[in-house]
Amino acid sequence: MPLPNAAPSPAAYPRLRRFHDARSGTCSYLIGDALLPQAALIDPVREDVSLYLGVLDELGYRLVYVLETHLHADHVSAGAALRELAGAAVACPRGSGVLGADLLLADGDRLPFGTGDIEVLATPGHSAACVTYRWQERLFTGDALLIGDCGRCDEAGGNSGQLYDSISRKLLPLPDELLVYPGHDRGERWVSCIGEERRRNPLLRGISRDEFIGRSRQKSEALPPAMAHNLAANRRCGLSD
Ligand SMILES: [Fe+2]
Repeated sequence: MPLPNAAPSPAAYPRLRRFHDARSGTCSYLIGDALLPQAALIDPVREDVSLYLGVLDELGYRLVYVLETHLHADHVSAGAALRELAGAAVACPRGSGVLGADLLLADGDRLPFGTGDIEVLATPGHSAACVTYRWQERLFTGDALLIGDCGRCDEAGGNSGQLYDSISRKLLPLPDELLVYPGHDRGERWVSCIGEERRRNPLLRGISRDEFIGRSRQKSEALPPAMAHNLAANRRCGLSD
């Protein structure tokens, strides 16, 4: 007996896809509304544009926004390419030094998105202007709060005291159950929650502001390859000469 012709169920829309760029270790995220075919990409990487477009096409989503958490030093943004190819508006934190963004975001802004919105929380410190995006019960923290770790502060305009303040005053007081999706994974882990980070993050639990600053100064990680090129391109939403 043939199945009845049922209209596609809105609940069939997936709501979150993660992408991992092995070259830079960057985690990018596609979020999609459950009822309307609208999607946003958070921190997309230029080399993966065709992948994003294929997934958007497969899922039937229109790309509304490219949302940058900060000016990236370790990869080139797909913002300009996705604006041209998919018509997305590129949104960056105000003060990040990006020229040509369609939207400059500040703390407390709310972006209309599908049947709801996306809230902007200023979380500077990894660089001079960083934001976290809150969408429903999810936080996209960029390189501010990582899983059991925090972002470095020595790339471009970072300030470890400011990062400590952002995390301890803005993020950790949020409800335990809010999920944390960072800009870089840690091994097999790619999602955490506020409660876990508050209780277990070794860089934060029981650590004073001064201790945090001291530990941050002692870190000695190699700077990302092509950092100057990446920063220059990202100041133009991912366009390079
Ligand atoms: Fe970063």
